[in-house]
Amino acid sequence: MDNKNDEFSYVHHIWTKDIQFYGNTNPIRLIEKYGSPLYVYNETILRKRCGELKKLVSYPNLRVNYSAKANTNLSILKIVHDEGLLIDAMSPGEIFIELKAGFKPEEILFISNNVSDDEMLFAIDAGILISVDSLSQLEKYGRLNKGGKVAVRINPGVGAGHHEKVITGGKNTKFGVNPGLISELKSILSLYKLKLAGINQHIGSLFMNPDAYIEAATFLLSFAENFPEIKFVDLGGGFGIPYHKENGELPLDLKTLGGRLQKVIDNWVNRNGRQIVIKIEPGRFTVAECGILLGQVHTIKENGAKKYIGTDIGFNVLIRPALYDAHHDIEIYSRIKRESFKNESVTIVGNICETGDIIAKDRNLPVIEEGDILGILDSGAYGMVMSSNYNCRLRPAEVLITSVGEDVLIRKREEIKDLLLQFPDKTYL
Ligand code: LLP
Repeated sequence: MDNKNDEFSYVHHIWTKDIQFYGNTNPIRLIEKYGSPLYVYNETILRKRCGELKKLVSYPNLRVNYSAKANTNLSILKIVHDEGLLIDAMSPGEIFIELKAGFKPEEILFISNNVSDDEMLFAIDAGILISVDSLSQLEKYGRLNKGGKVAVRINPGVGAGHHEKVITGGKNTKFGVNPGLISELKSILSLYKLKLAGINQHIGSLFMNPDAYIEAATFLLSFAENFPEIKFVDLGGGFGIPYHKENGELPLDLKTLGGRLQKVIDNWVNRNGRQIVIKIEPGRFTVAECGILLGQVHTIKENGAKKYIGTDIGFNVLIRPALYDAHHDIEIYSRIKRESFKNESVTIVGNICETGDIIAKDRNLPVIEEGDILGILDSGAYGMVMSSNYNCRLRPAEVLITSVGEDVLIRKREEIKDLLLQFPDKTYL
């Protein structure tokens, strides 16, 4: 093991040092080897999170469905599969890549939203269970697959989430079937002789206080009693992670959440005399903390009262801060030994031609210098999957730090010629 950590120093450290996030290498060497910006994932953390979820309740029929939308890197999916998790899909594309990662059709739940006939048929032909999101889509399903098995997404009337854009339960959202429409729901099921395999919900993304989740779970389980034939109740994802580690934010208290959930499940089992399958669908919790986005500082400048740190981490690479004002803690690494003597307020920006291209606004951090590398923590969920080619910028590479500390390339960096990939050979004019 060659450990050349002498070429690298932590100017600002939050947690990667203690947990040896970078294994046998370090951020500077990673950037030199794979280029910048760069997504780096840690296999040990990913496996640990999978393990914690599987133990959420001690109920034999708990199934953890990883919500793949958070991160669909093929190697990440393979690790999640190896950990024994099942998986959700949101599109034929996700189904395609999940099958490639080794998930069997019966391990995939397609949680569809406003899909076309062709998209439904894609899943039906692949033998994958579909959850439909409206009565009109249930009818569509009935027409396409009379006598088939289906799940229905219910809107429990409660929502939760870190931003209004990610709250998916309650009145202000397009999702789910209103439980008041139960008789219409039942008539469509019987008209098309459909078997209702399960009901599912998802109230929104990122809760640290489990009250709303428990309330919605209690509701959905009691609603399930209207359908004695169903095999599963899927309570959704939304499990939060501590994005404010630097301020001492604590992780989601899985023990308390699990204990409360266990009671709700036990009550149901006692009332109904059967051990129905209970699914949960965490995306963020599974992958957010195993990922860090590395980027380089290219510019330092002042404008008005603000000091700007200009980097190559544009919102084409990580859109969460620009889209949701989301906070990500930031570590600072340097090529030479440097102590951090003084803090100052800085605004860290990317290289995209928009004023909103901000990673961190008015952040109090140790002095950053040109050439430094920044580590944007907790970027494993909704990072790479939401990246784009805006401004004809290229999507970054992804690297895995394996459980023995080695770095392995798990997605190639886009090349400039890839920008031509989607154009037909013969272009207009
Ligand atoms: N199940 C369904 C049906 C969902 O729509 C979602 C996420 C999940 C599960 C997983 O939720 P999670 O456990 O990851 O919170 N891009 C946003 C998050 C949007 C999530 C939307 N639905 C962000 O970066 O915060």
